Amino acid sequence: MSYVLLTGGAGYIGSHTALALLRAGEQVISFDNYSNSSPESLKRVEQLTGKSIIKIEGDVLDVEALAAVFAQYPVKAVVHFAGLKAVGESTQKPLWYYETNVGGTIKLCQVMAKFGVKNLVFSSSATVYGDAQNSPLPETTPTVAMNPYGQSKLMTEWVLQDLQHSDNSWNIAVLRYFNPVGADESGRIGEDPNGIPNNLMPFITQVAVGKRAELQIFGNDYPTVDGTGVRDYIHVTDLAAGHVAALQHLFTDPGFDSFNLGSGEGLSVLDIVTRFAAVNQVEVPYQFAARRPGDVARYFADPSKAKTLLNWQTEKTLDDIVRDSWNWQKNNPNGYN
Ligand code: NAD
Ligand code: UD1
Repeated sequence: MSYVLLTGGAGYIGSHTALALLRAGEQVISFDNYSNSSPESLKRVEQLTGKSIIKIEGDVLDVEALAAVFAQYPVKAVVHFAGLKAVGESTQKPLWYYETNVGGTIKLCQVMAKFGVKNLVFSSSATVYGDAQNSPLPETTPTVAMNPYGQSKLMTEWVLQDLQHSDNSWNIAVLRYFNPVGADESGRIGEDPNGIPNNLMPFITQVAVGKRAELQIFGNDYPTVDGTGVRDYIHVTDLAAGHVAALQHLFTDPGFDSFNLGSGEGLSVLDIVTRFAAVNQVEVPYQFAARRPGDVARYFADPSKAKTLLNWQTEKTLDDIVRDSWNWQKNNPNGYN
């Protein structure tokens, strides 16, 4: 019996990936310090699957705690989600972001090397394409970081690439997510942000449920179809399936590679708001506000490399996304609390 170790497994994407891996017949260990999650998400994954997860509370900066996991369990691969992800916060606390995101990955890889486990899937972000203007964006788009969060992802990508070049027994898949949204269709697990959401979908769901008065749409004068920003929204269940595919790829086509995980379709803020209200029959009051600094007009993936090499593509529709996002929010108005 061997395990897939998920760092940050209790988080939003980690918990959905745990669900997908268990359903694909894998054994799962989660290693999480619960700084932005709770073990409740994993308990619900266990209820949904009837299978158990080994849940370890620990910090990726704690090498001894990490080593104890590898010493106790035969791990065949690691999916490294654990990290900090708030762009604004990263500009206030850059050292914490670099220490956790870059330093945490280095420590993880050191422990993995010590135990001879050299298969790794890493959570990167489309933010590494900076303010690229030429969507759809293939993986060959020049990378540039716009803030410490983005820089920490880019630096980590470089570290991993250098590591694999130094020792080709490492197999590493870097996954660049576009905009993860939605929730498992059961409505039992989903995104549970702390405080005021920064991202569009959790803000919409909190407005719809009455927690917030109205949505501010940042900019209606972009050179887009309706003037609002265009993004590539990917259902978290599709994203989770992308991780299952990337893990398989490590074993069938070893080495280092990066993949965009996105739908390839750009949708505007108004597309999302309008469809959310229509499908769910709820009001989403909004008003237009100034552009948010750092935002680009249009940003979406060219996902053809993942389709060809991972045999993966998104399956869920916009209607699935808005229905499942709402299903999670209305069944869990206070998240996991
Ligand atoms: P999340 O915050 O829900 O999950 C991250 C998990 O890591 C949490 O459970 C948190 O408690 C844990 N964690 C944080 N620091 C840790 C540490 N030092 N040691 C152990 N555990 C720690 O975030 P998510 O949305 O699931 O994102 C997962 C990964 O994907 C992150 O690396 C993030 O940067 C990346 N990513 C997310 C998005 C997005 O929009 N959600 C987009 C692109 C990339
Ligand atoms: C943001 C981050 C990006 C990160 C990504 C993860 C910034 C500048 N970028 O991307 O680094 O990788 O999240 O998912 O923070 N919008 C509104 N009103 C809101 C919130 C958002 O109109 O209250 C608009 C935005 O202007 C944008 C779209 O909705 O056009 C999506 O925004 P968001 O969900 O924050 O994602 P990104 O900005 O694409």
